[in-house]
Amino acid sequence: MIPAIVVVGSLNMDFVVSVDRLPVPGETVLGRDFQMIPGGKGANQACAAGKLGAGAVAVRLIGRVGYDVFADHLKASLAAAGVDVGAVHAAKSQPTGVALIWVDRQGQNSIVVASGANYALAAADVEAMRKVFRGASLALFQLETPLDTVAAALRLAREEGLRTMLDPAPAQPLPAELLARVDILTPNENEALMLLGRPPARVAPGDAPELAAALRKLGVGSVVLKLGDQGSYYSGDTGSFHTPAFPVEVRDSTAAGDTFNAALAVALAEGQLIERALRFANAAAAISVTRLGAQASAPTRAEVDNFLSGAGPRPAAAFQAAPPR
Ligand code: RIB
Repeated sequence: MIPAIVVVGSLNMDFVVSVDRLPVPGETVLGRDFQMIPGGKGANQACAAGKLGAGAVAVRLIGRVGYDVFADHLKASLAAAGVDVGAVHAAKSQPTGVALIWVDRQGQNSIVVASGANYALAAADVEAMRKVFRGASLALFQLETPLDTVAAALRLAREEGLRTMLDPAPAQPLPAELLARVDILTPNENEALMLLGRPPARVAPGDAPELAAALRKLGVGSVVLKLGDQGSYYSGDTGSFHTPAFPVEVRDSTAAGDTFNAALAVALAEGQLIERALRFANAAAAISVTRLGAQASAPTRAEVDNFLSGAGPRPAAAFQAAPPR
């Protein structure tokens, strides 16, 4: 039997406009072009895991869509990446989630999400899908569905013997009871600071050990701090270390964090050691920021393997990504 990953989370249709610069409040700017691209943090993680698992890791998604054309499109995109969407059901009276995204010339973005059906995913719905967790080794969560649903799903995953990985995005404070059910917490800089009640700031790699230690005291098993162009910092029972980022030319940082989590999950599900798994995740995220869009930017397994072996394209410009979202 091949290893399996379960993702519980959101599906959105992303409406993406490229702009010269992000608008300030009250300002109108003219965009350059517009695209609809499948997104949503849960679906992005599932899609990237499907592409990176390349048929050797099974990926199942639990989520909610509406009865509309976006739902069909999103499910088709996931199925094409090899994701089992049998547990993505339609909510009766809510539209499929959408996200409005502006991306500037530096690859930075602003995102507004209209959650729609994602907020119709109730704790009882996940309870009713307990069998989806059976036989899997790892479960992935984010915060674009109701918090009590995430908490219930984390409990369920633990009861079924899965390791749990939480991407605490969008940033928000979280109850200790929920964090106690997390084996691997993967915040970016702002999410980490928010969890600790500290103001937003850039985090230098030298500050990462203190930050990771403070996060572990919240009750999670281990922490992977996503530091954007500065790589990632791991702290767990087996040790702590920094993994540098790969320098690439940034086109769009949307979903780089989702791709990172998916790659980490695939590598761990395959039994890779954490050092190797984090290098694999950094490489997958680096490739994703060179492309526009969420699911459209997730690399295939062959692309990451080529990149790591030096055979793939690796633009030489400085890595300028904002912290992965
Ligand atoms: O993490 C990126 C995602 O955030 C986008 O795809 C958008 O849908 C929002 O959920």
